[in-house]
Amino acid sequence: MWKGRFAQDTSSLVQQFGESISYDWRLFPHDIAGSIAHARAQKNAGLLTEEEFNSIESGLLGIKADIETGKFEFKTSLEDIHMNIEAELTKRIGPAGAKLHTARSRNDQVATDTRLYSRHEAGELIGALSLLQAALVGQAEKHAATVVPGYTHLQRGQPVTVGHHLLAYVEMLERDKSRLADAAKRLNVSPLGSGALAGSTINLDRRAIAAELGFDGVTTNSMDAIADRDYIAEILFAVSLCGIHLSRLSEDLILWCSAEFGFVTLSAAHTTGSSLMPQKKNPDVCELTRGKTGRLVGNLMNLLVAVKGLPLTYNRDLQEDKPPLFDSIDTLKMILAVNTEMIAAMEIRTERCKAAASDPMLLATDLADWLVKQGVPFRHAHELVGKAVAESVKTGVPLDQLDLTAIDPAYTADANSVFNLERALAARTNPGAPSVENVKAQVERWK
Ligand code: ARG
Repeated sequence: MWKGRFAQDTSSLVQQFGESISYDWRLFPHDIAGSIAHARAQKNAGLLTEEEFNSIESGLLGIKADIETGKFEFKTSLEDIHMNIEAELTKRIGPAGAKLHTARSRNDQVATDTRLYSRHEAGELIGALSLLQAALVGQAEKHAATVVPGYTHLQRGQPVTVGHHLLAYVEMLERDKSRLADAAKRLNVSPLGSGALAGSTINLDRRAIAAELGFDGVTTNSMDAIADRDYIAEILFAVSLCGIHLSRLSEDLILWCSAEFGFVTLSAAHTTGSSLMPQKKNPDVCELTRGKTGRLVGNLMNLLVAVKGLPLTYNRDLQEDKPPLFDSIDTLKMILAVNTEMIAAMEIRTERCKAAASDPMLLATDLADWLVKQGVPFRHAHELVGKAVAESVKTGVPLDQLDLTAIDPAYTADANSVFNLERALAARTNPGAPSVENVKAQVERWK
């Protein structure tokens, strides 16, 4: 492609070092769509005849079909997807192919391709996230009324329901979807026409090209358009945060399927055994989700650090944007698919949840609220309940069986009526609180 300037071939070591075709080949549908739109603008500007445009278009579509069916031979010597396609086009259709690169650089080309790819993949991820949400909502519907302790510091706090706990993740995933949609909207402007860095002396209709490719508009500074990769960073951040949410869900499930908690049974299809310990049933999917989230965060760091010291505009370092982007998209897609299947199939052990939630200590806060309703200031009520808790811990008498009236005259015989789990949950009716009614309404909303 640059043989005019050089008297020597590129060393084969440099070719191996510098190639990106081994991974950027997957940009081909976007590269081809971009080239067709670019060629059409050339035709409309009188730079290509109708016949030349037609042969470029059919040549590119033929190459696309060959790549899709595995018949295309990618060459490392042609470095990247852009040059592989262009060289093959010229080989197939002759001189018209050599006109395609007029008023274009691989710099605006690669920025276009990765924007189109990111936009497409953000849509795919949003769809996959909705499926995982549906699996969680399905379990939440079944267990809208299954009481379970809610934890802070991994210590039992207050009663919630399994449905409420699972719907917390549905909320997080909804925000992950909106972050992806937001990133996809912001990146949806066309860099084509920015050239290598300073546009071109040949003016093509940038807006027409953008419209053909489904962009909302065109970039407004040629240097920015080809130098920045913030749109990839945003996708990588949205993907990382989504992974982090799913890593926390994984951690919950790992705890829940331990003998100590015993709140959930994962299906045999989604667990593994041990080659040594015959009794083991391990939550590997959850652990791998947690582990692979490290890769997602690493990929974000990879890109941020690659970009941080670069002078404007394009530097070859930017070729390193694609491996983390592709890896994060692939990894999250896999995480979403496998977790959707696993969540849909898991069994909640209702009895174990109920047994854990029957700990009267979970209603200590409710007892303080009861005192407040009798006119005791909350700080004082907190102290009075603290005394009752201390007494229970010291004597081994469960909190709900203590004679509270012996602790302080603020307690009356009615105080022990607080220790009714069903009533305690039913009282939590404020928006966002876990009364069974509320959880059922949320399930309906999500459905
Ligand atoms: N393979 C290159 C990349 O991914 C394409 C752009 C090359 N531009 C250049 N000036 N060498 O970044």
